[in-house]
Amino acid sequence: MNELNDLVDRAQAEFLAVDQPAELENAKARYLGKSGALTALMKDLAALTGDARRERGAQINLAKQAVERALQQRRDALAEAELQQRLAAQAIDVTLPGRGQHAGGVHPVVRSWMRIEEIFRSIGFEVADGPEIEDDWTNFTALNSPQNHPARSMQDTFYVDLKDEHGQPLLLRTHTSPMQVRHARAHAARHAGAAAMPEVRVIAPGRTYRVDSDATHSPMFHQFEGLWIGEDVSLADLKGVYTGFLHAFFERDDITLRFRPSYFPFTEPSAEIDMMFDSGPLRGRWLEISGAGQVHPKVVRNFGLDPERHIGFAFGSGIERLTMLRYGIGDLRQFYAGDLRFLEQFNAA
Ligand code: PHE
Repeated sequence: MNELNDLVDRAQAEFLAVDQPAELENAKARYLGKSGALTALMKDLAALTGDARRERGAQINLAKQAVERALQQRRDALAEAELQQRLAAQAIDVTLPGRGQHAGGVHPVVRSWMRIEEIFRSIGFEVADGPEIEDDWTNFTALNSPQNHPARSMQDTFYVDLKDEHGQPLLLRTHTSPMQVRHARAHAARHAGAAAMPEVRVIAPGRTYRVDSDATHSPMFHQFEGLWIGEDVSLADLKGVYTGFLHAFFERDDITLRFRPSYFPFTEPSAEIDMMFDSGPLRGRWLEISGAGQVHPKVVRNFGLDPERHIGFAFGSGIERLTMLRYGIGDLRQFYAGDLRFLEQFNAA
């Protein structure tokens, strides 16, 4: 009896000592296999007879069942351990914080764009929109910058792999001035033959492109073009309109303007408009904010109008520059770096 109990204990201990299924099957063979310990005891029964044999047989059978139970328990335990291990390895970490939902906001440059439209609408200007991919004639030639004109090199741009009907490559517009041409030509055509033509009074804001990149230049930037053509529109009107615009845009009246003689092929005379705040941190510093001038007679002719009768002014201003001055931003590249910490400031509740 004891000898059988010991055997069951040993088997149980051996099964518990292994932790690989293959080792467990080897341990099993040592007891239940062909040359296992229990198998050997069964063979020994042949030497017994009668009750002794029956009794011994029953005892060995009980021991065998105990070993088989222990084996099955260990198999189950190892299988369960393996399953737990696999589950742990494949676990999905659901504890990451969610991304949440954030309210979007209006970009500071677009905020200025909207303000500019509102201010000019309030003084009777239309707002026009036009293509960013422009043809050579409208961007340059119609604006009195023929092919090979040196002024073209001031505005190097990006070309598109497509040609217009004259075989010239299309390009990304270098300024919003082609909108003078598009808008005035459509206006003139609409009123052709009429005794009197309503004045052209329009601004055209939008994206423009140049091969330029530093703290105050971005290859993509925004301008708004202004154009006022009538029968007696003068530079005094330009000064009045632009001064009123700046007062409204910056919401202050202590601003001084200066028209500094300059050159643009499409205006004559031409000027840079400089402004100066009379108080605050930028006080006393001249800041260049716009090109402007009286529209050149050749350009008026390209509008489809008679320069002896129609006269007026145009200006083209940088929206980033105005936005930087309004908010005191030092580096234009911040507008396009996509840093929410910067952008969110303009949308504070
Ligand atoms: N198109 C000019 C520029 O981008 C600005 C300008 C517009 C000047 C209209 C005069 C008249 O530099």
